[in-house]
Amino acid sequence: MAEIVLTGIKPTGEVHLGNYLGAIRPAIDTTSQSADTSLLFIADYHSLTSMHKGEDLRHSIYNVAATWIACGLDTSKSILYKQSDIPEIFELQWILSCFTPKGFMNRAHAYKAKLDANQADGKKDLDHGVNMGLYNYPVLMSADILMFNSTKVPVGEDQIQHLEFARDIAQKFNNNYGDTFTLPEPITKKDSLIPGLDGRKMSKSYNNGIPLFLDSKKLRKKVMKIKTDSSPPESPKDPDDSLIFDLYKYFSTDEEQNQLAETYRAGIAWGEAKQILFEKIENYFTEKKEVYDDLMADTGRLDQILDDGAQRAREIARPLLNEIRKKTGVSL
Ligand code: ADP
Ligand code: TRP
Repeated sequence: MAEIVLTGIKPTGEVHLGNYLGAIRPAIDTTSQSADTSLLFIADYHSLTSMHKGEDLRHSIYNVAATWIACGLDTSKSILYKQSDIPEIFELQWILSCFTPKGFMNRAHAYKAKLDANQADGKKDLDHGVNMGLYNYPVLMSADILMFNSTKVPVGEDQIQHLEFARDIAQKFNNNYGDTFTLPEPITKKDSLIPGLDGRKMSKSYNNGIPLFLDSKKLRKKVMKIKTDSSPPESPKDPDDSLIFDLYKYFSTDEEQNQLAETYRAGIAWGEAKQILFEKIENYFTEKKEVYDDLMADTGRLDQILDDGAQRAREIARPLLNEIRKKTGVSL
């Protein structure tokens, strides 16, 4: 079976290290190692559930597109596109929603988290602030995935439930009309949720992230904000209980990690550990940042790349959608 790798990033703010390590780097690695076809996209209509300022969304779309390319995506091999440019996805979303039990959506993590937050705030209406876009979010995500018969979907652990929905919905459709959709498998690294500056999951929603392409001064300032305890500089420290060390591991060799672990155990000032991490991250992204800055200064080039990607993606989507329309009976 052909390996079709697909993943999307929601443009809702600057891409951060969690997105990079949880989704972008694994997707680019899988793509270059095993994919027959790879589709990487910007889930812009998913952002519309929460972002209602046109200028911000537009900037964020360019930010995500430039980030993919700067991080090594080869657009001659992989297809990079904007979700909103593929009308087939939205038609499929409707079709799939007719096979989705409402109870599935009631159990969706993002929706449930919103209800819990409303309850904690003492709100009378637990659905306060929930729009239908947020409620239907998992169906649109299923359409993103199933439209291309994706086999592998690299995502962070927080997205596993969405993949289960996609598989369940696909099965319901297949049971009714016969084999149509491939059941997608998530590709996730265990315990791979990257912690943010405050120790919670790094997320745009918590504003606790380290964006990838900050200038040196701002990056240093962010890294210096990582939460630490108040132990004095000379006291021995446990590398396995340190956000700084956790992040360092993603950018260093085993030997470098052993070295820093030893320094921790001998006693290191948090400021010094942060400086070491800052230099590591800055170095890792220097060349990527140059590519990123060039692309952000030439958004016309990004428009061309995205248009080309959309055309190629639609060529894959159209025949499958035609087959589905026939099966449902709407194509006469
Ligand atoms: P955010 O929570 O910042 O809004 P998204 O929901 O847009 O991030 O996530 C985009 C991709 O990055 C998803 O595959 C998600 O699983 C992954 N991801 C997001 N945050 C993290 C994290 N802290 N650690 C690992 N992966 C993450
Ligand atoms: N829901 C994903 C997130 O918040 C983004 C996304 C939308 C996605 N559609 C997708 C990821 C399809 C993988 C496949 O991170």
